[in-house]
Amino acid sequence: MQPVGLLARYGQYLPISAATPAITLGEGSTPLVPAPHLSKLTDTDVHLKLEGCNPTGSFKDRGMFLAIAKALEAGSRAVVCASTGNTSASAAAFAAKAGLRCYVLVPDGQVAMGKLAQAVILGARVFAVDGNFDQALGLVRELGEKEPITVVNSINPFRIEGQKTASFEIAEALGDAPDLHFLPVGNAGNITAYWRGYQEACRHQMSTRLPKMMGYQAHGASPIVQGLANPNPQTLATAIRIGNPASWKMALAARDESFGRIDAVTDEEILFAYQLLASKEGAFCEPASAASVAGLLKAFGEGRLPKGATVVCTLTGNGLKDPDIALSRAPAPVRVKAEYAALMKVLT
Ligand code: F0G
Repeated sequence: MQPVGLLARYGQYLPISAATPAITLGEGSTPLVPAPHLSKLTDTDVHLKLEGCNPTGSFKDRGMFLAIAKALEAGSRAVVCASTGNTSASAAAFAAKAGLRCYVLVPDGQVAMGKLAQAVILGARVFAVDGNFDQALGLVRELGEKEPITVVNSINPFRIEGQKTASFEIAEALGDAPDLHFLPVGNAGNITAYWRGYQEACRHQMSTRLPKMMGYQAHGASPIVQGLANPNPQTLATAIRIGNPASWKMALAARDESFGRIDAVTDEEILFAYQLLASKEGAFCEPASAASVAGLLKAFGEGRLPKGATVVCTLTGNGLKDPDIALSRAPAPVRVKAEYAALMKVLT
């Protein structure tokens, strides 16, 4: 049988020991697909990294397999996270497989339906906190300090370590690193992980150069761009509705060391990219993920893209996670009687 999962593929580059249990749901090895429409539109060579193809439908699985394996190795019996949805779905799935108890704290009423469905059916104990993500993360940090529970948010260093493997895959697929890498920024763990991954890819001879890291926050939740924490972040891209990112400093380092940029895109720009991805590239991602492509279009408009540059945009999560937004953005199905004549009437 072919080995599956990130431990099998990249174990030599990860902080594991002989005692680290092999836990996998088949994470990683996601497709990197050319995006011809976006390439034409921006005069570059655009590729989409489809992280929604991971087992729980988001990039979180890359780091979670390792965080859970390390929790097991350390003898932990329970894990906890705060989440805008995807981290909780991933933690719940890996904890279920590993036989660990899983507690998740989500901002009440601010989590997409698909993600909540995942967390509950996967057996997590879900608490809807009367507050936002940043407040939930504050509670989780305190719990992790006072109780014997492992925190599996990206403040857990094994999360970032696992997530860096996305850069390895991209360098291997393209034969080198891209010129620019666009991705959404929320708690800022992923931009930190990609940057580390690209640096290590060079060291391990998977690539010869480093990309500019281009991170995009939602306008109403853009503390890094504003240079100020936001106690009341707002955006319809609920996955990145974060006002005080845990990896803020590391995101700034990724930006500055790579000569990249962290900027904001409006909800309108996010939705435009979301629909364009679906209708022109056949890529159905969740709204937060489309912030990467909204950023690409913005950077193109500002003249920041060298002609012919190789570009990767990460689509961080699967569109099925947030069916409500999809349905609210498209015309409702046309009702028709089960008769040929009736069908022809509505078809024409
Ligand atoms: N895209 C999606 C789909 C996400 O779920 C997240 C973060 C991000 C982008 C931003 O990544 O936080 O590393 O900068 N979701 C976290 C969660 C906060 O709880 O699922 P980041």
